[in-house]
Amino acid sequence: MTPGIRPLIAGNWKMNGTARGAASLAEGVRAGLDRVAGADLLICPPFVHLHAAAAAVAWKPVAIGAQDCSALPDGAHTGDVSAAMLADAGCGYVIVGHSERRADHGEADAVVRAKAAAAIAAGLIPVVCVGETEAQRDAGEAESVVGSQLRGSLPEGFGAARGVVAYEPVWAIGTGRTPTEADIAAMHARMREEVTALLGEAGRTTRLLYGGSVKPSNAATILALPNVDGALVGGASLKAEDFLSIAAAAPAG
Ligand code: 13P
Repeated sequence: MTPGIRPLIAGNWKMNGTARGAASLAEGVRAGLDRVAGADLLICPPFVHLHAAAAAVAWKPVAIGAQDCSALPDGAHTGDVSAAMLADAGCGYVIVGHSERRADHGEADAVVRAKAAAAIAAGLIPVVCVGETEAQRDAGEAESVVGSQLRGSLPEGFGAARGVVAYEPVWAIGTGRTPTEADIAAMHARMREEVTALLGEAGRTTRLLYGGSVKPSNAATILALPNVDGALVGGASLKAEDFLSIAAAAPAG
């Protein structure tokens, strides 16, 4: 946690489920909101389930986000979805630069930066993901890789748009493995320095999330670490009970 920053607990549902399942999961999160006094909640369903999830949480303080957006505003780009379309569908946030998109679709920092800029232009808050591979960590390059991803991926206006950064070590995603507490704290301290150098004062209050095998059993420990202002949760966000338990473990910022 960072004093003065309210934690954000975000669920990345990835490519899972049906529209009916998305509505029921969103409804389950909404129904358990009383348990979560100290954190903001965000759920990120697949594009085609955004409407169903948004309808299920309507008028409640659960934000909706998408998992990607186009860098372009509109036009002949088959299969792409613009940031303005996401805003129109009820989104307040969009994840960009997730390592699965960087790997599956060859998205480099410049593309991530353009997508984050498009999100800001449409009034969305971008959640920009960064993180090293296992080989990079083993080579002692984790902090320099993440620093370089931040410099390459954060667009102008990111601080003013209350943009969010998520540190997700690639080797910790979906594996049940997490970095040590000391490693997470060290990386988040480095990220705080980097975003403050890039964004000025806004960098001090930019939310820095940790993601990668966050679950109810490790959430309290991870969320209490300095400069960890929330979590980006994959697998455990597919069960309302687990997602709510993680959110309930967040110390009030
Ligand atoms: P897991 O929580 O399943 O490790 O996924 C993390 C992630 O990639 C969230 O974006």
